[in-house]
Amino acid sequence: MSTASTDLRLSRRAVCAGLAALPVLRPALADAPPPLLTAREARVQLAPPGYDTTPVWSYDGSLPGPVIRARQGSRLERRLVNDLPVPTSVHWHGIRIDNAMDGVAGLTQDPVTPGGQFDYAFDLPDAGTYWYHAHTNSMEQVARGLAGALIVDEPTPPDVDADHVLLLDDWLLDPDSGHFVDGFDHPMMLSHAGRMGNLMGVNGRHDFSLQARQNDRLRLRLINGANARIFVLALEGLTGWRVALDGMPLERPEMVDGQLILAPAQRVDLIVDVTAEAGATAGLLSGSEADGWRLLAEVAVTGRAARTPRGAPAPLPPNPRMAVPGAADAPLLEMPLQGGAMRGMNSGHYQGQEMGFRALMQRGQYWALAGQVGLGPEPFARLSRGETTRIAMTNDTIFPHAMHLHGMHFRQIGADGRQGPLRDTVMLMPDDRVEIAFLTDNPGKWLLHCHMLGHAASGMTHWIEVA
Ligand code: C2O
Ligand code: CU
Repeated sequence: MSTASTDLRLSRRAVCAGLAALPVLRPALADAPPPLLTAREARVQLAPPGYDTTPVWSYDGSLPGPVIRARQGSRLERRLVNDLPVPTSVHWHGIRIDNAMDGVAGLTQDPVTPGGQFDYAFDLPDAGTYWYHAHTNSMEQVARGLAGALIVDEPTPPDVDADHVLLLDDWLLDPDSGHFVDGFDHPMMLSHAGRMGNLMGVNGRHDFSLQARQNDRLRLRLINGANARIFVLALEGLTGWRVALDGMPLERPEMVDGQLILAPAQRVDLIVDVTAEAGATAGLLSGSEADGWRLLAEVAVTGRAARTPRGAPAPLPPNPRMAVPGAADAPLLEMPLQGGAMRGMNSGHYQGQEMGFRALMQRGQYWALAGQVGLGPEPFARLSRGETTRIAMTNDTIFPHAMHLHGMHFRQIGADGRQGPLRDTVMLMPDDRVEIAFLTDNPGKWLLHCHMLGHAASGMTHWIEVA
């Protein structure tokens, strides 16, 4: 035989010998820990100058936590290290995630005890603006600072001059010390509109500002990270379009004219053109016609970019699995939202017992979803995988609520049967009836709860099971 084939065999053997050496290296690589996300105490300057720093609970020492950024279709890994004095867990809000990674203490995992750790690893099927936050006693932990943005980039992001994440929040600070006001479970807050801050800000700053030139095109990713505040926003010196809600691209960009309303946990991606001239006021205003407007996030205009602004932006590329087929004749489940101050409820099912409103109040419980008070052993519904389901939520209370479904996005079904945008959190004003439809394509135990975190903690938490 030719020497060439001998050479081939030899070289193959040489390659195999080389490969044989690899197993020595491989376990070492596999053992490399995922990047850490450390929940720990820290001090940050939240209040205006002159005030002391505020002791907070943070991810990696900052408030909000670091922006986590990854590419669509990639896998995200983080090792949560709990250096806090309390148990905790991380929820990856809006990610259509593997159920075991959803971070809900008491439903999808045990809370991570102080000194403990937990490895999160999951695929990122969708591009968009998401966020992560504590989901163990979240009413207190999120208010103390345990939240951050999670951005999943499109393979080809839209053509903009800059891309900014704006995590909106409010903080309830003691006016003397600048420290958080304690009493995160104050009955007055739980039974009314929730814990409202007395200082508002963006990305941990009450005086947030970013720089741009006139005619720059910016992508602004707004996230409402507040415990209970509904942000009413307006643009000043900017022309903008909504291009995504709760991470999911809109079919057609919608021009922003007038107010932009963002309930707790909701996100909106805007593409804005800076129209203000250098030196003029531009940015995001927060407030209302009645109470006036204040600058929540400043866009400081320095100089001028292109000569003329561009026209309406193109839509973002759609995410996979955005259709909700067969919604019109899908089974309809009724979920009344009940309780709260001034309207109350007769009774509710709590910890395996039917209890009157007074007895519930004594246990710090004020709200119910379809008669169920807080997380119980039985789901609101058991659903078969791959089917479309409708839930009609009726707000029988006198407060607004922001209802959030884990694991799957839904579309609101209008009275005319038309489908709204795909989203994960919907706001209901008093007496609203909102019908949502979603495809049960993600198996597991999924929370459905109010994202006003005090309401969630005092009764407005239920769950569904998809199997
Ligand atoms: Cu943003 Cu149940 O959470
Ligand atoms: Cu609520």
